[in-house]
Amino acid sequence: VSSAFDFAGNLFPLSSTTGTGGYAPIGAPTSAARPGGGLGGGSLEKHKTLTYLNGLSLIVGLIIGSGIFSSPSQVSSKVGSAGAALVVWVVAGILAWTGAASYAELGGAIPLNGGSQVYLAKTFGELAGFLFTWVAVLVLKPGSAAIVSIIMGEYFVRAIIGAEAETINPWVNKSVALVGLAVVTFFNCISTRLGTRVNDLLMILKFVALLGVTVTGIVVAITGYTFKGEKDVAWKAHDWFSDTSFDLSNWAVALYGGLWAFDGWDNTNYVVGEFRNPSRDLPRVIHTAMPLVILSYVLANVAYFLVLPIDVINGSNTVAVAFGSKVFGPIGALVLALVVSASCFGALNSTTFTAGRLVYVAGKEGYVPAVFGRIGVGNEDRGLSTQRTQSWFSKKLRGCLGDDDMGLFYTPIYALILNMAITAGYCIVGEFSTLVTFYGVAGYTFYFVTVLGLIILRVKEPHLERPYKTWITTPIIFCCVSLFLLSRAVFAQPLQTLAVVAFVIAGIPVYFWRIRGRDQVRKREGDGGARPWWRFWK
Ligand code: ARG
Repeated sequence: VSSAFDFAGNLFPLSSTTGTGGYAPIGAPTSAARPGGGLGGGSLEKHKTLTYLNGLSLIVGLIIGSGIFSSPSQVSSKVGSAGAALVVWVVAGILAWTGAASYAELGGAIPLNGGSQVYLAKTFGELAGFLFTWVAVLVLKPGSAAIVSIIMGEYFVRAIIGAEAETINPWVNKSVALVGLAVVTFFNCISTRLGTRVNDLLMILKFVALLGVTVTGIVVAITGYTFKGEKDVAWKAHDWFSDTSFDLSNWAVALYGGLWAFDGWDNTNYVVGEFRNPSRDLPRVIHTAMPLVILSYVLANVAYFLVLPIDVINGSNTVAVAFGSKVFGPIGALVLALVVSASCFGALNSTTFTAGRLVYVAGKEGYVPAVFGRIGVGNEDRGLSTQRTQSWFSKKLRGCLGDDDMGLFYTPIYALILNMAITAGYCIVGEFSTLVTFYGVAGYTFYFVTVLGLIILRVKEPHLERPYKTWITTPIIFCCVSLFLLSRAVFAQPLQTLAVVAFVIAGIPVYFWRIRGRDQVRKREGDGGARPWWRFWK
């Protein structure tokens, strides 16, 4: 029986002095003796801080963002009818769940930070892992964060200047998006706990909001009156399945819309190494989060359809605001606009947290310049804060920021800043719909290959210890459906697909360049590449 830690040692023999390199939890000593002393060598356990509940709020907080409040039109306008739209939402949810369950198996068998990167490296070799990181660091993480922050900006501006305002200068939205991005990055730089607490709080808000939408929708449908006192019978006006489209391409595009709302289910896998008990908690997190999210999305959609006529839904990018305004009037629209922007803010916060870890792992492995694999502000990892003199005030401040022993700014700051910079770039130049499709095609390519890897690994290494095993049908279903989606994209958006392929291929020379540099440094220094900060390109 082999374990993941042998694997990390075998795969990266030169980094054996660094334990599992960047895949270990943040803050774990990179060599037995850290300059600050304190922790003693090798006590990885102490750095594993994430619990079941943290994992749950991380993944739910990331999944519920913009999509459920703004994609419904993309789904229903493509498939034509309310009933078919609900079917798409269920299918998208189940697909995401099968993907997440497959990732849970991989995460349990290989409990390291880095997500797909480590799984691909294990199954197909380090190049495959690198190519994932290449695309994830440059496109997937910042691209999706840019989309979420643009939508956050749009809703926030709507809430301020009037929800039903027709045209808003996009630069106003974008400025708000950039400010939000900076705030979230700053939170995540201060302390890991602060980021996690913000998540916990916003997760509750999101569930309350979705539950609120559902309940009001049902009340309106039963009484036949909106809260403004208007008579309303929208749900009687639909014929739930007439006008359903039978064009497969339409269904594929609708599915992409639904999948965007469910996306982010792989994100706990980026931080598996930071769980106290990953093999128990990761599957538990996924099997609570996914059904909860699916249920609340389907119910919210039912509520939209109960209250709004289908052509209103089809024609609106801001369904939630239309819903609020129909049921409660302008105040309702305003409240919902605020809720949606808060929800996006939460998703942005979670995605920033995991993106920081992803870039950090890449930095530790030499895929990106080493500076991005550093923790804290200084040149070397700092000693522990408990060893510094602490005034009463600083203790209180730390307590309130949720910082126990690691010290403030004991986070992958450089990684977070890199992620912010790229995201900001996408925000400024990007346009929503191109970003979404490019994101979908690139993202599902890697999900597909990773889950295929799970099947291959079952055959290649039947004895690998797998604390959690899904039914083999789970990855098979996931692979079949995502292959269908990808093949549709090839026909529907050949140019974008080509762009994705070209981008992945462009990563190959970069891989050989980075790896050569890294291995030279490691050979020379024999310590995993400690070097002065000014030689950051090494
Ligand atoms: N599902 C989220 C939403 O509805 C988007 C998640 C973006 N994905 C990611 N990996 N950050 O807004």
